[in-house]
Formats: sequence, C-alpha cells, structure tokens
Amino acid sequence: MSFFEEQCPEMDRYLENHALAEPDILKRLRKETFQKTTQPHMISGYLQGRLLAILSKIIHPKNILEIGTFTGYATLCLAEGLSKDGKITTLDINEELAYLPKKYFLESEYSGQIDFQLKDAKAFLKETDEVFDFVFIDADKENYVEYFNLIKPRIKSGAVVLFDNVLWYGKVLEENPKQKSTQIIKELNAMIAKDEDFENVILPLRDGLHLSRKK
Ligand SMILES: C[S@@+](CC[C@H](N)C(=O)[O-])C[C@H]1O[C@@H](n2cnc3c(N)ncnc32)[C@H](O)[C@@H]1O
Repeated sequence: MSFFEEQCPEMDRYLENHALAEPDILKRLRKETFQKTTQPHMISGYLQGRLLAILSKIIHPKNILEIGTFTGYATLCLAEGLSKDGKITTLDINEELAYLPKKYFLESEYSGQIDFQLKDAKAFLKETDEVFDFVFIDADKENYVEYFNLIKPRIKSGAVVLFDNVLWYGKVLEENPKQKSTQIIKELNAMIAKDEDFENVILPLRDGLHLSRKK
C-alpha cells in the first residue's frame, strides 16, 4: 500500500472503478503474488499497471527495458503496447521467484516477445549495445542514479524513461534524510529535473512515478 492509498483508500477505489478493466491473466497473477510472495506490495498493481499499459500503447515501442521483474505484472502491462515485431527485456536477480513470472509469461499472448533475464541490471547495462525506446526502472533504489547514467547512452530522442517509487512514501520531503535510498531518490529527482536533455514530470500516482522524455 502506498503513502497515498493510506491517506485516502476511498479515492483509490474510485480511481479503480473508473479505469479500464484489468485483463484476467493479470487478476490471477496479482492474486497469486499475494498468496505466494512475502512482499506482495512490490507489485505495480491495478492502477499503475493500467497507466503503464496506456503509456506503452501511446509510445508503441519496439524495444522496452524493465529493471525489476518481480512476478511479471508490470512486464505484461508494458507488453500490451509493443509493436508487432517489438520485444521487452525484463531483468531480475531473484532466482527463487523466477518460476512465477515464467509461468505467466508462457501463458500470455506476448510470450514470444518477452526476454526474461536473471541478471543484475548494472551488469546488463554495462554490457548491452541495445537501444531502448521505453525504460521502466522499479528495482533497488540505491542504484537509481547509476541506472539513469547508464541508460542515457542507450536511448535516442523521443525515448521515455519511467522511475517508480520516486516519492518514497513521502520521505523525499525530508530535508536531510539519513536513509541512503531516500538520499539517492532525491538526488535522482533533482538530476532529471535539471537535465536539459529531458522533459519531465513526477506523477503522484501510488508511490510516485518520475516520467521523463529525452528531447
Ligand atoms: C518493486 S519489485 C518490481 C515490481 C515489478 N516491476 C512490478 O511492477 O510488479 C523490485 C524487483 O527488483 C529486483 N531487483 C533488485 N535489485 C536488482 C538488480 N540489481 N538487478 C535487477 N533486479 C533487481 C528485486 O529482486 C525485485 O523483484
């Protein structure tokens, strides 16, 4: 549950009741995530998932990168907008949980377009020569600034980069945060905001999404 859901759960229900319907496969995946994982709150969930799907349909990307697969909920939402010959690469380091996204990816209509790799994101970004047109980063917050720096040379003009949890349960308002993750998220938000190569806005949905577009 996010900072905002805790403040006003009724508003969250209202928003859900006025969003497009969640595909059946995602309903089942969400349920199984809550039944089988110890940190189900990490899942993007209904509203954020629908936002990811719509953004992806608008961008209609050829090559998506997701950092932080978890159970694959956001991967399947992002895949909804892929162009016919497009693909999504999704990275995670949690081998124990990999059976769950694998099961749903195989069942989904996008199975041939999903490249699920059990690989550390920094290692991947240092090795890859691919160019991405949509990047969703939803993993270890301590590496967010480094991810942004590593991603910049891997995207072209018009590409969209989206970071999750950039309000960090409201902790970004702390003036001198002690927590490393809060410091890094604040550094990232400031860095994107003043980067002249990017246009940006922070969306206060759930725990905050930093949406930016390379000019
Ligand atoms: C918040 S969850 C991702 C949720 C998922 N995007 C969704 O919306 O359902 C974060 C995931 O990042 C993964 N992760 C953490 N550090 C990572 C790293 N260095 N490289 C790749 N994945 C990492 C964790 O194992 C965890 O599954």
